Amino acid sequence: MMDLPRTDYDTPFNITRTSHVVLTVKDLDASRQFYTEVIGLVVTADEGDTLYLRGIEEACHHSLVLRRSGDTPTCARVGMRVLRDQDLDRLKAFFESRGCATAWAEVPHQGRTLQATDVAGVPLEFCATMPVVPRMITQFHLHKGGAAARIDDTQILVPDVRKATEFYMAAGFWLSEYISPLQSSELAGVFLQRKGNPHDIVFFSGRGPRLHHAAFTSPESVNIIKACDVAGTLGFGSGVERGPGRHGPGHAFFVYFRDPDGHRVELFNTHYQAMDIEVEPVRWDPGDAARMTPWGLPAQRKWFAEATPFAGVAQSDPPRAGDPMTLEKFLAKQSVV
Ligand SMILES: [Fe+2]
Repeated sequence: MMDLPRTDYDTPFNITRTSHVVLTVKDLDASRQFYTEVIGLVVTADEGDTLYLRGIEEACHHSLVLRRSGDTPTCARVGMRVLRDQDLDRLKAFFESRGCATAWAEVPHQGRTLQATDVAGVPLEFCATMPVVPRMITQFHLHKGGAAARIDDTQILVPDVRKATEFYMAAGFWLSEYISPLQSSELAGVFLQRKGNPHDIVFFSGRGPRLHHAAFTSPESVNIIKACDVAGTLGFGSGVERGPGRHGPGHAFFVYFRDPDGHRVELFNTHYQAMDIEVEPVRWDPGDAARMTPWGLPAQRKWFAEATPFAGVAQSDPPRAGDPMTLEKFLAKQSVV
């Protein structure tokens, strides 16, 4: 029987979902074109050096913040929501009880905001409210590219997946699925959620902490194909990095793009509800290639190796390097036959 960390269902605070990501970019105009025309986000506010975007179903001010910077592109923060303002005080105590740094921050277009570093070194921020803006979900004439509906999750590479999993499950996260080689208790990847679908935050083993990607849902699979077509039309075609394809874990129909600064963003759909306490987490064997990736080619090596650094955060390597089936390995095998 696999020894899995346990969810604390009685936390004195209520984290509700992943809320937003703050990225730095070199060329805000190029990023704006990519995220509005290809991904299909809408601009809530353009404030010169900072652009605030949201998905077409989102009624809160932003789910992606892009800040102009001449330095190496980074992820400044991953944002999450709590239900009520008072959750923030109890969450602050939770982080501090585990030796994690916290600070109150004034953040534009967000209610009272708690910034905190998790046990893996990921810079987070939590708030209970943002200004409310119109949902664009039935403004069909304004839907572009992938028609990104809302932010769903982030995936983060960390050197110690179990340590991160224990921390987040103590904070009330549910484990929906996990990747673990057969006959081992190693956690190579975990899918953790608060909002009742498979993911809010995903950790995979790798040099980190680094942001592997932020993921937005698309209403229909055809929106995902259209995003690829628009990417090709506007000169972003070489940034279509993986897919379209079908994930085993989470079952998503997906495509991964690299934005003009190399930040990775996923469009996907077909997640499922996950909010019944008796349902066991699904285990995946990374060696079972046909189940992990039901069809399509393996990802390029760079999909596994490259990721966005967190601003000013030191990185370290996992004790054991992964050995994923990459497209390069797959093709080398074919030519031998
Ligand atoms: Fe994802």
